[in-house]
Parts: sequence; structure tokens; C-alpha cells
Amino acid sequence: MAAPIAIYFGTDTGRTRRIAKLIAQKLGDRALAPVNIGRSTVDDFLAHEVLILGTPTYGEGALPGLSTGLAQESWEEFLPRLQGRDMRGKTVALFGLGDQDKYAGEFVDAMLLIHDAVVDCGARVVGAWPAAGYDFTASLALVGDHFVGLALDQINQAALSDARIDAWLRQLAGELG
Ligand SMILES: Cc1cc2nc3c(=O)[nH]c(=O)nc-3n(C[C@H](O)[C@H](O)[C@H](O)COP(=O)(O)O)c2cc1C
Repeated sequence: MAAPIAIYFGTDTGRTRRIAKLIAQKLGDRALAPVNIGRSTVDDFLAHEVLILGTPTYGEGALPGLSTGLAQESWEEFLPRLQGRDMRGKTVALFGLGDQDKYAGEFVDAMLLIHDAVVDCGARVVGAWPAAGYDFTASLALVGDHFVGLALDQINQAALSDARIDAWLRQLAGELG
């Protein structure tokens, strides 16, 4: 049987949590209930083989966390704890929320920071998503003409998100096996 999919998210104002829950709902039985990364231990996180990781971008191109004004720990505090741990054999897909109008020069940057942290630990990242259809000037999360994961903008393009998630999950189904 295919491994269950663990979903972890960071959030301040709740948008990324809502998207995580929507993704879990769309995945049905295959997904575990989404968990706020600020409440997870590294050992619990590493117990999973397949993970979907979601983050907003805060500051200017930064991870959510105490230094970007969150009231609780988030990815900013979690990723340093992951450093040096072994994620070989694990598969990760990323999604990131941002605001391409107000933060056009650092749109969904935080996705890359999570991408690099899990790649450093040996994980395989799937779910690259085409940058066509967005209107921004720069993003660290862009590799060629694809983001390293699904980019969502609940402020300027909320109406597009549902179809983007469906298409991305169809793509992931192939990539995850
Ligand atoms: C102070 C502040 C800084 C932000 N910085 C960025 C940024 O650098 N890049 C980006 O794409 N979005 C940025 N955003 C937009 C958030 O990522 C976006 O509102 C997101 O939906 C918030 O998700 P959440 O509700 O899960 O916290 C910023 C928002 C705020 C309030």
C-alpha cells in the first residue's frame, strides 16, 4: 500500500492552514491530518516517507517564525533543527503562499528555503509548478520557468487556487506513484 502523506504547514493568519486542509480533503484517505510545523518535533516529522510542506513567505522573502512577527515558532525555528538529519529515501512536495502584487520581487521565496533544507538532508523534491499565469518580478523559488513547488496567491488570485491545487495533485499522483 502507498505510504500515507503527511502534511505540515506554517501560518500566521491562517491561509496556509486552510489550503493544507483543502489539500488533505482532496487527497482523502491517503492524507494524514495537517499539522502546524511549530507544534511538531523533528522525530515525528521524520517518521513519514512522503510529505507535503506548505509555507507563507514573510518579512521580505523570509520563512514564517518569531523573527517575522509570529506569536509561535514555525519553519524558521524548525529547519535548523532538521539540519544534519537523514531524509534519504523520502519524497517531499512543496506549496507556498505569497502576494505577487505587494511582494513582486520576493514572491513565495520561502518555498526555496524549505526546498534547500530538505534537499540538504537527502530528500527528493517533486511537484515543480510552471510560473506561467503569475505576475511578479522575481522569486528565489523559481528554477528556470518552474517554481520548486505549487505557488498560490490567496490575495490576488484566490479564484485560481482550487484548479491549481487539483492540477498539481494530479501531477503529484504520477510523481509519487
Ligand atoms: C509583513 C508581511 C510580509 C510579507 N512578505 C511576503 C514576501 O516577502 N513574499 C510574498 O510572496 N508574500 C509576502 N507576504 C504575503 C503572505 O505570504 C500572504 O499574505 C500569505 O497568504 C499569508 O499566509 P498565512 O495566512 O498562512 O500566514 C507578506 C505578508 C505580510 C503581512
